[in-house]
Amino acid sequence: MKGVTLPTETVFVMEMSPIKFGLGATDEIGYDARRLGIRKALLVSDRHLAELGLPERIVGLLGEQGVKAEVYDGVEIEPTDRSIEEAAEYARTKEFDGLVAVGGGSTIDTCKAVNLLTCHPAPLLDYVNKPVGRGVPVPGALKPLIAVPTTAGTGSETTAVAVAHIVDQHVKAGVSNRLLRPALGVVDPLNTLTAPPEVTAAAGCDILTHAIESYTTRPFDARPKHHPPDRPAYIGANPASDVWCEKAIEYVGRYLRRAFLNGLDLDARLHLALAANYAGIGFGNAGVHVPHAVAYPIAGLVHDFVPPGYRTRHPLVPHGMSVILPAPAVFRFTYPSAPERHLRAAELLGAPVAGLSEADRREALPQALIALMRDVGMPDGLRGVGYSEHDVPALIEGTLRQPRLLSGAPRTIGASELDRILRDAMRYS
Ligand SMILES: [Fe+2]
Repeated sequence: MKGVTLPTETVFVMEMSPIKFGLGATDEIGYDARRLGIRKALLVSDRHLAELGLPERIVGLLGEQGVKAEVYDGVEIEPTDRSIEEAAEYARTKEFDGLVAVGGGSTIDTCKAVNLLTCHPAPLLDYVNKPVGRGVPVPGALKPLIAVPTTAGTGSETTAVAVAHIVDQHVKAGVSNRLLRPALGVVDPLNTLTAPPEVTAAAGCDILTHAIESYTTRPFDARPKHHPPDRPAYIGANPASDVWCEKAIEYVGRYLRRAFLNGLDLDARLHLALAANYAGIGFGNAGVHVPHAVAYPIAGLVHDFVPPGYRTRHPLVPHGMSVILPAPAVFRFTYPSAPERHLRAAELLGAPVAGLSEADRREALPQALIALMRDVGMPDGLRGVGYSEHDVPALIEGTLRQPRLLSGAPRTIGASELDRILRDAMRYS
């Protein structure tokens, strides 16, 4: 019988890294590295964690199982194409058959890129998504990479994406390919206990935007039909990604304030680590949209904002902050595309939603986000990180260079819509 051909997509895919989760999961890393065939590892981390001793501890655990490891601790917060090329140059002088990333999203993304650039040497920009880079597909398999996150945020241990700040173009952009996915994520909430409150807050806001963006992105079955080889990693909201995202939103609503106020609250740390991973699985398949697209120029065009709590003297807007700042304004704009989903997200964050007027229903999610942002010390809009109305044209231009992310928006969006959103996002109170 001849099959029925529908004009829109009918198939979705769920891919994720295998995950080992739990208090003390790190202790088993030697066993896991051996199991994955690693005998000589390159451990990628940053100087701050090196001072705290975690990379050294992991080198010891690997050594107990006969896995040699060499440490590279030069990862920068919010890595640039240059810092990644530097790390890859260092790695090319070493011999290794697997990688271990120990750190936050910056470290895991750098490690993914180092894996790519050492297995298939080429300038990073060749692999970066168009139009910022050339969008060359990853040519083949990479070495096994074990990701050990030390923040509850990016979910990078399960995603197929690595993001970098492209210095010359003043923009952030990603490489995305399923071959970048770590062979294993070791999610041990004990590793997040050292994250300071400000880092905990920004990372938690990143979890939340991953989850809500994936929950509200254009559904997979409202997109064009793909041939299997052309089906992108981000396929749109679907019944499976919804499950992961709903739980992630709920946990951030319930535990982020607690972890921010008391970093040693183990129960809160554990649930946020779960939430980061769940949201990573959700967005790693459904995809993010406008807040992440706007966030890239927000981070890339930073004037002189130096975030408190981060070990940097350079101006930077932490990723989690750059995505949450435009989020209330974006979800005001996307509300009509799926009112029930926006309301459900607000409810999962703990906002009362029964018996609201239509005007209050529209505002439920933006207000729930604004309240959470205030409670965890996020600035009150883009003005708080040094932007003003004068910056709007440049921010729009930078956002329009993220067509891959904008295509996930549930409503048509162009320069005039972005203008409205960015002006709305300048200040919330
Ligand atoms: Fe993110």
